[in-house]
Amino acid sequence: MERHRWLKVAIFACLVAFSVGREFRLNHKHSGDAISFNHTLAEILVQYASAAYISDLTELFTWTCSRCDDLTQGFEVIELVVDVQHCLQSYVGVSKSLNAIVIAFRGTQENSIQNWIEDLYWKQLDQMYPGMPDAMVHHGFYFAYHNTTIRPAIVSAVERARKFYGNLDIMVTGHSMGGAMAAFCGLDLAVSHNYQNVQVMTFGQPRIGNAVFASYYSNIVPNTFRVTNGNDIVPHLPPFYSYFPRKTYRHFPREVWLYDVGFGSFIYQVEKVCDGSGEDPSCCR
Ligand SMILES: *[C@@H]1O[C@H](CO)[C@@H](O)[C@H](O)[C@H]1NC(C)=O
Ligand SMILES: *[C@@H]1O[C@H](CO)[C@@H](O)[C@H](O)[C@H]1NC(C)=O
Repeated sequence: MERHRWLKVAIFACLVAFSVGREFRLNHKHSGDAISFNHTLAEILVQYASAAYISDLTELFTWTCSRCDDLTQGFEVIELVVDVQHCLQSYVGVSKSLNAIVIAFRGTQENSIQNWIEDLYWKQLDQMYPGMPDAMVHHGFYFAYHNTTIRPAIVSAVERARKFYGNLDIMVTGHSMGGAMAAFCGLDLAVSHNYQNVQVMTFGQPRIGNAVFASYYSNIVPNTFRVTNGNDIVPHLPPFYSYFPRKTYRHFPREVWLYDVGFGSFIYQVEKVCDGSGEDPSCCR
């Protein structure tokens, strides 16, 4: 009995996820572009996001690290981008199987993660996003991408890759703080460099700006997914207060929430595609 009940719950949850996904596609019909969450692509991009943490730069450059196999085989690194002063690391390369330029950003390193998370509670919206009236972001995330050696190195690597391989898609990814940088990078490539085919998929990304920023962002980089996991605190930070929705941080859409339903040995992984608000109250956020 118990087993059937949970099975029903799981099936119901999947139907909800499916119908929400369908609604999303309908909503976006007018833009002529049906963007749906691609689970296979997420499994590939999470490998790229994870590889950004590898500290052995030779292994990373030659794509011979232990995480650099199966799903990402044949990846060609164009440029490793390391900012030692600010402790940032990312890379740009070409995936022939995805037919895309992949850009991945490292998150905060393990030894400083606790402090970093504690700091996240107090981050102020203290930086205007240039060219977008009333859009505010956190200066720390903004400057990590915009005011370090990272941005010029990434932009020039993307230009080189496109010169050599043609007009490939651009996929930007990262985990945690790397996800925040991935979002700024995707937005920058679309706004300042006018690239049309930019996709962003982040994993466990914190909030980076206010509601006005989120709205600009989602218009400019509509092909964005934020994958969240039920047990992760980072996507809840810096906090969103629903009673001050325009004054606080706000996520941009679209969240895809991975969580387990079930009980005992009947656990089902549910993947819920959340609504277009960025702060779907029935999701992890
Ligand atoms: C999902 O992504 C994979 C990897 O890029 C691709 O091969 C597949 O065709 C995509 N599926 C859909 C439905 O777009
Ligand atoms: C941006 O970077 C430059 C050079 O590192 C530095 O002088 C400047 O103060 C930075 N701007 C801000 C607002 O932090």
